[in-house]
Formats: sequence, C-alpha cells, structure tokens
Amino acid sequence: MNILLLGSGGREHALAWKLAQSPQCDKLWASPGNPGMEECATCVALDSSDHAAVVKFCEENSIGLVVIGPEGPLVEGLADALAEAGVLSFGPSRAAAQLEGSKGFTKDLCERAKIPTARFERCTSLEAAWGALKKFDAPFVLKADGLAAGKGVVIAETREEAQHALSEMFDGRFGSAGSEVVIEEFLTGEEASFFALTDGETIVPLASAQDHKRVGDGDEGPNTGGMGAYSPAPVLTDTLRKQAMREIIEPTVRTMREEGMPYSGVLYAGLMLTKHGPQLIEYNVRFGDPECQVLMMRLESDLVELMLACAERRLSEIEAPRMSEDFALTVVMAAEGYPGTPKKGGAIDLGSAEDNGAKIFHAGTKHEDGRLVANGGRVLNVTAKGATATQAQTAAYEAVDAVEFPDGFCRRDIGQREVRRERHG
Ligand code: AMP
Ligand code: GLY
Repeated sequence: MNILLLGSGGREHALAWKLAQSPQCDKLWASPGNPGMEECATCVALDSSDHAAVVKFCEENSIGLVVIGPEGPLVEGLADALAEAGVLSFGPSRAAAQLEGSKGFTKDLCERAKIPTARFERCTSLEAAWGALKKFDAPFVLKADGLAAGKGVVIAETREEAQHALSEMFDGRFGSAGSEVVIEEFLTGEEASFFALTDGETIVPLASAQDHKRVGDGDEGPNTGGMGAYSPAPVLTDTLRKQAMREIIEPTVRTMREEGMPYSGVLYAGLMLTKHGPQLIEYNVRFGDPECQVLMMRLESDLVELMLACAERRLSEIEAPRMSEDFALTVVMAAEGYPGTPKKGGAIDLGSAEDNGAKIFHAGTKHEDGRLVANGGRVLNVTAKGATATQAQTAAYEAVDAVEFPDGFCRRDIGQREVRRERHG
C-alpha cells in the first residue's frame, strides 16, 4: 500500500520510521517531510490546507492511507475531505477534532458526560471574564479557547495578573483563538499523558508518557512545545490507568459517538493525577511531540495495521498494540534562542550518535550546501531505550554528547523525576 504522511516535525519522523517498517507499506510519501525522513520516505511539497490538492495527489499516486500528523489540518477538516473522496485517513473528522480545537467544547462535553475535570466558566467577553474571575481563587488558570500552538494557557498568581492577562487575550494576543476564554480551577498533582487508539467504538490503550514543557533544567523558564519525554510513566499505575479509561476516555468516545461525532484516531489525554483520582486537563487529537518519538521507539506492533484498523472501524478484530517493556526517553536539542527567536543555520554533525542503538529523529533541520543545518526551534530528538528510566537516560545523553551542534542546547535532566524514584524507591 502507498501511504502519505503529513507533517514535518520529530513526531512525523518517528511515525515515518515506524510506518516504513511495516510489511504493508510499499511506498511512503511525506509532505512536507524533513531531511531525517528522507531515509524512509519520499518528501513532496503539498499544501495541506488545499484539500483538493491533497485529494488529487492521493488519486494520482494510489494512496491507500493518509496519516495526518499535526492538529491544524484535522481541525480544518482534511479527514472529512479525504473521506468524501473515498480516501482512508488516520485522524478524526473536523467535528471530532473540536476536542482539541475548542477548550470550551471539551469542557461542556465533560459536563454532559460527567467526566472529572477542573471546575470552569466559558467567557466570550472581557466583562464576563472579569466577573467570572470572582468565582475562583488564585492561582488562576486562563485558557484561550482555540488552537494556540500550546501557548494559549496562562497561570496567573494574582487577581491583578489574571485581569491583565484576560485583557490581553481579548485584545487578540492569541489571534482568534482568544475570542473566547475558559477560566478554570487550579488542579494540584502530578501530570501524565495517556494515549489510546480508537475507531469510534473500540478503544485500546497504547501507553503513558511524561513530557518536560519548560525550557530549562529543574522546570525553570518559559513553556515550550516540549523539551523531552519518556514512556512509560509509572506514576500512572494500572489502577489509575483503568480509572482514567473508565471515567474519562470511555465516556468521551461514547458521548462523541452518541452525539453524531464519532472520534477515530489517537486520543491523547493530558491528565492531572490529583488526590481524588485522574482529572482531564486537556485533549489532543494527534500524537504528542516529542511523546510520539518515545511511543514509536517502544511500539512492537505493525503501525500501519493499527492505523488502518482505526480508519476502517475494525479495531476489535485485531491484536491489541504490543509495547516493549523497556523505557524510552527522548532529549530535544533546540537551537539557541528557543523558545524565543531560534538561531537558524547552525551546523550539525550527527557523527556516531546512533551507533549504540539510539535513534535521532529530525524536527527542524535542512540541507544547505551539502551540510545538515538547524532550521527551527526544536531541531533534533535524541531517543534511546533501556530496561530502566535510568538506563534509557544514560543512553540518550551518551548519544546527545556524540552530536556536534555548537549552536544548540538541551536540558540535562530529562526523565529525572523517574530516575530519582528508581534511585530512592
Ligand atoms: P493545556 O494546554 O491545557 O495542557 O495546559 C498547559 C499546561 O498548563 C498543562 O500541561 C498544565 O501544566 C497547566 N494546566 C492547565 N490546566 C491546569 C489546571 N486546571 N490546573 C493546573 N495546571 C493546569
Ligand atoms: N508535547 C506536548 C504536545 O504535543 O502537545
């Protein structure tokens, strides 16, 4: 089968690497792809917002499956356009993608389906938001309703700070994503991510993971798209995972189906493990980046088969996904300046970094005059496995140290929380 994968980040390189390993994959196309993906895919420039162009490409190249990596095209309804043209795709419809595309939509769904989540108010004007603020105590959690590339959440320590942030949000700091704002109660606990696959009816758990959002060691500095991740996240115990499936994932998938918006694809739940059990922080309708890199490193099943079964609504007929018992850990190497203005063009030499079983997934790289150079904020994802988090961490940093990227930096403490737990029990 010919497969088209859309996207250009480390997440998509990891998906491409795994898709290409499937005996069912004849030819893999990636659009726009990146230099790392050239090892297993043919890169082609398509505009994913031009649905007719994507459909035409699929028809001309006998594409049997389209894998939509990022949330943007899903929220814009690319899966619907492909379905209309009779092309199978992995990823939810426009209606189902509202689970990520609108925080207010998801909060309302939680209310209807009695899913544990932070108490909230939806506000469509600054006046209403200032009024709603009175119903909450510090710290205040303020969220732009729409897609904001992971940067639409403000946690304000004081009421004045919250009022100021709300003014900015309604003033267009997040563009149209901020024309509606959700204010919610602050939850305390440890965060974990949980990934499940579903065809709209059957749900199969895939894995847990934890990421590191802040740019600096010790979780200091501004938020980023993610500076590293590891999987599994043992803090999400079997008991908690079952509880999250029963109280959060299953009622979500059931309600979406019952309300005529069946969800298919990967459902990525951001959970807060509170003393009252797991609560939903947010949903994403695609794999996490960089969480996908560690998931793919652990996945032993045929990814094409899993994705096809989601798209063809026959997940109940196939074997559940098998994940390695090992830990996988990925360290993001970013360009100096990230998450502000990253320095582009810095030379990269991967040297022998992959020699001991590590895998380097490219994110923001490009070829320039025959050399590999940085071309974005997050540049490389250095990923390794080990029997313990400690071993995976050691292997990943050995590979990091073998990479020459003078204009790059990384956190030195990815996975530290788990490593500490392994050391001290
Ligand atoms: P989100 O984009 O909704 O995942 O929010 C980004 C980050 O803000 C989350 O990963 C949490 O660290 C934090 N956050 C979001 N909502 C809450 C909440 N209700 N209570 C505490 N922290 C939150
Ligand atoms: N790493 C967080 C995300 O992909 O949303």
